[in-house]
Amino acid sequence: QKGGYDHFMLKEIYEQPRALRDTVHPRISDGLPSFEMDDVPEGFFKRFEKISIVACGTAMHAGMLGKALIEKLARIPVETDIASEFRYRNPIMDKTTLVIVISQSGETADTLAALRLAKQHGVTTLAIVNVTGSSIAREADYIIHTYAGPEIAVASTKAYSVQLSVMYMIAIKMALAKQEITTNQARELTSSLMHAIETTEKSILLDEQIKAYIKRYENLNDLFFLGRGLDYALGLEGSLKLKEISYIHCEAYAAGELKHGTISLITDGVPVVALATQEILLPKMVSNIREVRSRGADVLLICKKGMRIDRDVYGEKLELPAIDDLFMPIVGVIPLQLIAYHTAVLRGCDVDKPRNLAKSVTVE
Ligand code: F6R
Repeated sequence: QKGGYDHFMLKEIYEQPRALRDTVHPRISDGLPSFEMDDVPEGFFKRFEKISIVACGTAMHAGMLGKALIEKLARIPVETDIASEFRYRNPIMDKTTLVIVISQSGETADTLAALRLAKQHGVTTLAIVNVTGSSIAREADYIIHTYAGPEIAVASTKAYSVQLSVMYMIAIKMALAKQEITTNQARELTSSLMHAIETTEKSILLDEQIKAYIKRYENLNDLFFLGRGLDYALGLEGSLKLKEISYIHCEAYAAGELKHGTISLITDGVPVVALATQEILLPKMVSNIREVRSRGADVLLICKKGMRIDRDVYGEKLELPAIDDLFMPIVGVIPLQLIAYHTAVLRGCDVDKPRNLAKSVTVE
């Protein structure tokens, strides 16, 4: 069943290029995203003035990137909420709001309750779900199925990637519907998305380098992820993955926020994974990395191939394949999953079934 891999998690990490193709390719028509197979009518996205994305855990992290993408491309305000918070804060919604819920299992109790709450308010709901026939898939007004295939490992990997790919398609589709981009621009973005998907194969090739590097993480207690913009959202996912399966305490920080408190935790030898995949944010990011380096941090820099970064800024560098900045999270998440995986294996953890966690969280 594990197809020659030691764990389901590793198998699922390696399945990502396939899962992404299966999810995206059938939804490309004439070089543009199309949700015709999902019965989402043409012009659907024109109706909405506000988007509310609701999910839990890893699915929420895909939603956070979705917010950045939709706001950047379509210029529609997007709120993101953890489902268990959304439910109890009396959220403001009306007929011009689209509530998007994201769930691998389609059974997460809080996400399902959030969906029901939105429906009670008469708000249009769209669910991005991996498990066909699940409660969320049955109850949402519109469903976009992801085709990750069954995800067995408790830690979500391929489901996140396909959720993210759908967020890209929605953002492009909305931007076009709102006339924020031209059809040609939408085609270019769609082609960049397809290219990013093919490039995930190259990210996977970093596996050996990662495995060798993380040997130093065997007896670790704490680790920090730093990033700005899309890299911050990515860092949150990298941090969650490492925490849940390796039991290392870990935090993801928006790099600019460090100096508002957390930098006091950075002392000699503290490991920092610094994400720097966004050209426009690079100077600021480099200065944040210098701040932690000067306090003795052990910095693994994850950047984009070809970025010019002085050698004294980092301890070791992991270079992601260079694609358009906007699409870097698609190739960037894979090394973070591999860091979590190899660290957990090294520490003798039960990778596929971490303690206290269930694959489907059906309690509130
Ligand atoms: C983390 C993880 C969880 C789930 C969360 C939501 O690796 O798997 O954080 O993402 O419990 O689950 P779904 O997507 O099934 O609603």
